Amino acid sequence: MNIFAPTQSRTTEAYDKQGYVHLSGGVDPEFLAYCNAFLDAAMAERRALDNFAFKSKKEQYLFEFPEGMDIEQALMRPVSELTGLDLSRLTLCERHIKVYTEDASELPPPHKDRLASEVAMAVPLSVPAESRLALYPEACQKVNPYNTTAEWKQHMPEPETPEQVLRNYQPTLLDIRPGDIAMFPGSSVFHERLKPAHTRILYLKMNALGLDGLGEDPRTAHRLKASQLLEESTDDADLRRLTVDLSPRLEQLTVGHSRDSWQALYYAHIGAEGARPLRRCDFLLLKSLQGPQAVELLLAQARRSEAEMLRRVRRLAREGLLLLAPPAQAAPASASGSAGAKAAAAPRDADAKKPLAA
Ligand SMILES: [Fe+2]
Repeated sequence: MNIFAPTQSRTTEAYDKQGYVHLSGGVDPEFLAYCNAFLDAAMAERRALDNFAFKSKKEQYLFEFPEGMDIEQALMRPVSELTGLDLSRLTLCERHIKVYTEDASELPPPHKDRLASEVAMAVPLSVPAESRLALYPEACQKVNPYNTTAEWKQHMPEPETPEQVLRNYQPTLLDIRPGDIAMFPGSSVFHERLKPAHTRILYLKMNALGLDGLGEDPRTAHRLKASQLLEESTDDADLRRLTVDLSPRLEQLTVGHSRDSWQALYYAHIGAEGARPLRRCDFLLLKSLQGPQAVELLLAQARRSEAEMLRRVRRLAREGLLLLAPPAQAAPASASGSAGAKAAAAPRDADAKKPLAA
């Protein structure tokens, strides 16, 4: 089964030019029928996600892909071709069907999704005639760096609130009907669904950061399991030749300060698990990784002995904070030459280029 109708052209022109893409009749009818049947069954069995219940707004259901679907071919490849995001890094971070309730607010304030929603793909299942998706692709496109929209709103300086930023902008109103697909940069473009009551819509959210904090990409659990098996079955000589990357589940690294002399405390944040204490040297090792790289390159950059670094790489892989893979499965992100590939390959902060202090 396909997700996209085969007749759709696959270029990044619309996404680059408009800041979004609306594919009229873009869904494969078989997939649309599957989604509707899936949601009917999920609602009948009351399988709504408790963690994502928005008061007086919408229910969310975790979507399951059709059995045997190759999501790399059916989803990731077309999305990469339409958005320019690097296919080798493209990761699903959310697959929810949203059902807006009767009492959903008619004109909710625009928002930006969490960081991992670099591209939000909407597949409407049913939409009332008057409902529209409002996008502001020309307004400030600063990325929401937080892992939730709520956290972003809490820390938002006054000049960056939607009321201030959007004062002089008119929204682009998209009338996306069942059978269509829309894609837009969820974490950087203000958006909202207007008059949403009774709308049912599948959202698939993706990024080229390799980030899947919730573990909703069906490949994430397999990759982590394969990584742990590799660690167990590989001697140090072979481990050097593997590729190492951050775990898709690792959402954030933070530093706290204890009331005991304000000594620094280091943490890793994995999805809903919360903060996990880290040693400083492991914090620095994780922070130095900006994408997949050969283990031996990591060893060459380190100031510690190779034996110690290999022990740490092994431990962090066992703990699910690092991902080990055969070199061929994690090619450098620059191969496609796309804008997304360039973005994915670029260091995200100045510290990234510094050698390990550990
Ligand atoms: Fe959103």
